[in-house]
Amino acid sequence: MPAHMPAHMPAHMPAHMPAHMPAHMPTETRGSTHDRVGSLNVASPQMIALGRRLIANSIAGVTDLGEGTYIGDGSMFTDPARLEVEREILFRQTPQVIAWAGDLADPGDVVARDVAGVPVVVTRDEDGELHAFLNACTHRGMTLCDGVDTMRRLTCPYHGWSFGLDGALRGVPQRDRFPGFDLASAGLQPLPVSEQCGLIVVGLRPEVEVDGFLDPLGEEYSWLGYERYRSGSERTFHNATNWKLTVDLNVEAYHVPSLHRDSLLPFLADHCAVDTFGPHCRMAVPFKGIERMADVAEEEWPDRLDTIMVTCIFPATVMVDHVGGGGSLHRISPGRRPGESTVHLIEGSPGIRDADHLSSCEAVMEVNVDILSGEDYPATEACQRGYEGGSRPVVGGAGEPLIGHLHTTWDAAIADAL
Ligand code: FES
Ligand SMILES: [Fe+2]
Repeated sequence: MPAHMPAHMPAHMPAHMPAHMPAHMPTETRGSTHDRVGSLNVASPQMIALGRRLIANSIAGVTDLGEGTYIGDGSMFTDPARLEVEREILFRQTPQVIAWAGDLADPGDVVARDVAGVPVVVTRDEDGELHAFLNACTHRGMTLCDGVDTMRRLTCPYHGWSFGLDGALRGVPQRDRFPGFDLASAGLQPLPVSEQCGLIVVGLRPEVEVDGFLDPLGEEYSWLGYERYRSGSERTFHNATNWKLTVDLNVEAYHVPSLHRDSLLPFLADHCAVDTFGPHCRMAVPFKGIERMADVAEEEWPDRLDTIMVTCIFPATVMVDHVGGGGSLHRISPGRRPGESTVHLIEGSPGIRDADHLSSCEAVMEVNVDILSGEDYPATEACQRGYEGGSRPVVGGAGEPLIGHLHTTWDAAIADAL
């Protein structure tokens, strides 16, 4: 399970301080959507229903269970041939989330990020149209820009060619020195792109069909306000771990009592609600204190229940929404070898990118990094060493049902190519 501190938690606060878990949690929740637009805690029919499921689970002393135990083979984490197939089918041929749409809300907005090893740039041009391109200069391939920015042109730092936000080549120093080369057709290579559920989705190949990719999330997610989220803090982790182990750690809370005994266990409840949406899936974990609902009449249950919600967008993007608005985007990519992967972690929240926004996102980032780097990633790197040493069992219990969901979905997607 990822680090998932509330957005308002200051960086200096010990990770185990449940500052976001006030004693009055079950009360004062109705009709307060206006101050938390963009938070998963906005009271919508879907969130009300999810909160009630969690309360019912708490009162009954149960958790959502899968139908059985998933059993896999550890070679999936060490097989170079499988990695090549995964990279091609699950990443190059499957739409990938690159950003919250809030980072591309206005004309001139640009986001340039690595997507599973491919440099991609997304722009919102002067007419408001969204574009994605291979982030590679058509002169000799140089990366044009990096990160989140606002600009009128993409100017190559190597020799100074410049491109419009529509991808057209506009400026070429010493333009008359390219005889026999058609500069007019040397625009950036376009890639498929679309905005769905407030997220920007790209395809790494021209033929990838991106439209409709997030349709299974549908109404559950379309109202969540991600179109207002802007990136505030970013980190990249290079882990000695297969990418699937990194995804796995996010979708089960079974490890919290052991691995996060001192950091997260003190304030997380010991049950969850899980859902699948086509290939995508979600786990919601409430905070301790929810058990007090046993003494509250059902008609008085709150419409908005603070939870940690972890959504995994197939195949390897994990969104974690924090209490109080804001959230994390974990963009997990395979490495060049089976035992390597990269996590591009972004902390963001709704609103404008001013100093307050950036500093609050940075504070959340520091808390998250403590837990991810101190607890989660070392554990998955140790798992990888076990599998590289010859360990075989990969087991996902009924109490961690999304392990089985993800692995069977990944396996089905690549089955024909193996
Ligand atoms: S590589 Fe971009 S201008 Fe030369
Ligand atoms: Fe964890």
